[in-house]
Amino acid sequence: MTPLIFPLPGNEFLARKLAELLDGELGRLEFRRFPDGESYVRYHSDIAGRPVILVCSLNRPDEKTNALIFAAGAAKELGADGIGLVAPYLAYMRQDKRFHPGEAVTSTYFAAMINAWFDWMVTVDPHLHRRESLSEIYSIPTQALQAAPAVADWIRKQVDKPVLVGPDSESEQWVGAVATLADAPYLVLEKTRHGDRDVEVTVPQVEDWRDHRPVLVDDIISTARTMIETVSHLKHARMPVPVCIGVHAVFAGEAYQDLQIAGAGQIVTCNTISHASNGIDLSPVLAEGIRSFL
Ligand code: R5P
Repeated sequence: MTPLIFPLPGNEFLARKLAELLDGELGRLEFRRFPDGESYVRYHSDIAGRPVILVCSLNRPDEKTNALIFAAGAAKELGADGIGLVAPYLAYMRQDKRFHPGEAVTSTYFAAMINAWFDWMVTVDPHLHRRESLSEIYSIPTQALQAAPAVADWIRKQVDKPVLVGPDSESEQWVGAVATLADAPYLVLEKTRHGDRDVEVTVPQVEDWRDHRPVLVDDIISTARTMIETVSHLKHARMPVPVCIGVHAVFAGEAYQDLQIAGAGQIVTCNTISHASNGIDLSPVLAEGIRSFL
């Protein structure tokens, strides 16, 4: 049966591309807010007996989660033949341990909510640091797809003589994989985060690479402090103007403008979150992942 694909607000472009790539049908789902701020959700497509796919990137998750859960609940009641979630960016993955006494380990509770309403989930490069795989918290079948091949391909085609720069030891595995695929050298920085917007990085032996173009690669750009600190270190070391690549363009507040002002030559992200910086299309990768559940 042809899948019905529904975008949540802001995900229309990606949902349309996925419908094309999967020979699926784009469905119509209405969302609006009642005057008191509560969410209204209504299907305008007949979903009984059809596989339903909800496309919703989960940046700013607290604004979206109620509507998403209501859409999944309604699909179940209306007789959908399975409900999949395509969340190219998966939220609440960084609070994966109790860093301070009394804190909520939100990644676990968020996963429990998705597990309760969906039959499967596809995402891209979820922030797995202290956890090895999504299955530690997600009990539904999941696919964690990788942006690395598409990122490496972009670097190979667009950057002459690159040296990849990873912001911290967490990123080493990932940056190393991109570097191998792009056939480029890489460096990994030492990062200390003192607070949400207070990040310190050191760049070892960067002077050895002055004749290369630095390409900063990170999974998430949120406040952009990590990239901004790195860009300013590279500037002090008189390195060429860097290219900044993030998989997920979270860009909290003025982060994008701040990074431009800090001296990033080019800022490029994957289209897991719709943003002006999107330059690497992951819809074929997502379609491939979704196909395994259809
Ligand atoms: C951290 O563990 C992640 O890999 C990123 O380095 C981090 O989320 C970037 O955050 P920000 O842009 O706020 O410095």
